[in-house]
Amino acid sequence: MRKDRGTGLILGIESSCDETAAAIVRGGSEALSNVVASQMSLHANYGGVVPELASREHLRNIVPVVREALSRANVRFADLDAVAVTEGPGLAGALLVGITYAKALSFGLGKPLISVNHLEGHIHAVLMEAQGRAETTMELPMLALVVSGGHTHLYLARRHWGGSGNESGDDSWSYRNVGRTVDDAAGEAYDKVAKLLGLGYPGGPWIDALASHGNPRAVAFNFGPIHTRAPREGVTNKKAHARSEGPHFDFSFSGIKTAVLRYVETHGMREHIEARRAALAADSSITARSSGVAKLCDQQTLDLIASFQYAVVGNLLKQTLAAAEAFDACSIVVSGGVAANSELRRRFQAEADRLGLPIAFPSLALSTDNAAMIAAAAWPKFVGEDFASENLGASPQLRLGSAVADK
Ligand code: KG4
Ligand code: ZN
Repeated sequence: MRKDRGTGLILGIESSCDETAAAIVRGGSEALSNVVASQMSLHANYGGVVPELASREHLRNIVPVVREALSRANVRFADLDAVAVTEGPGLAGALLVGITYAKALSFGLGKPLISVNHLEGHIHAVLMEAQGRAETTMELPMLALVVSGGHTHLYLARRHWGGSGNESGDDSWSYRNVGRTVDDAAGEAYDKVAKLLGLGYPGGPWIDALASHGNPRAVAFNFGPIHTRAPREGVTNKKAHARSEGPHFDFSFSGIKTAVLRYVETHGMREHIEARRAALAADSSITARSSGVAKLCDQQTLDLIASFQYAVVGNLLKQTLAAAEAFDACSIVVSGGVAANSELRRRFQAEADRLGLPIAFPSLALSTDNAAMIAAAAWPKFVGEDFASENLGASPQLRLGSAVADK
């Protein structure tokens, strides 16, 4: 018997980091509204997200943001079929605000609660939009690179779908983790390098805008082999054990950040950097998108920025393509804040075209954190009645998928 899906309206709520977001998505693919209250300017003063401030801002924003999402979609609470919320990974206090509110709503409305992994959300941001473009078929298995300020992961994604012959139409996804960063996330490296160079926060958009003015081959940055620490004798390392099966394609971005710091120090760039930092602090109207933003930097700085980005994107591309080949992936998706990067999109697209592999990115609005992706990822769970219990709590270290091959 086909299950009753109502009108398929899911309210998604996301509060894992520094954006309070709510969205209404119909049938897992049609975003009727997508509201994001960003705390960026608040955290910019500190050059990074301050967890206590983030929780306080989420508390302030959650009610108006959800109301706005309903109002823009012209939907009432009573029209909803389910409430979906990010369970993790993320900041514990920040996650709890969204989860507590979602639980209260679900209980008060008598509608099911669905918990979503933030990383799965990023992947579904792309699938949701690709579904709307008939020309893009994301063939399976699909390799997903999730690359943001908190994560750099490679997943092999498979769909387990009842299809038309299956009355229930059940549809679920499984993920196998085939690569991850062993230290900093790529977006974190962007943010730290931008801070070091006296640019604004978050650093990604600044470096993206400035890199095109520099020579990407001016400074050679290398990525050496990655060594994961072996477990001490007698100590069982669950992580090492779980990852022992099959090849994996890891990343490391802390070395390049140190290399940029060393370059700055050995090339006497400090004074120039401090002058830029002071100029930006004195004029908050200057943003990464301001015209003439490149004038803030001398050519040496622009070359350093271009070389940094060239190396990071090159490394992401190399590992992703190697994993795609090793696992016979039939398509690639790239998602998360760093997927907004223009050089990354250009180079990934060119290589995928050369190899004849379909590739998809989210629109810029859905690259960074949002709640439409949470409501979209909740859809297969809604269809499969995979609901969360009323005891749902925050899982700051939540992982996605298994590290071993699924059969
Ligand atoms: O997905 P997201 O909004 O939050 C996390 O889950 O972390 O990603 C934020 C990250 C930040 O590190 C930011 O610097 C980076 O995405 N980012 C970019 C660009 N736009 C945002 N990195 C490179 N180029 C961009 N255009
Ligand atoms: Zn994210």
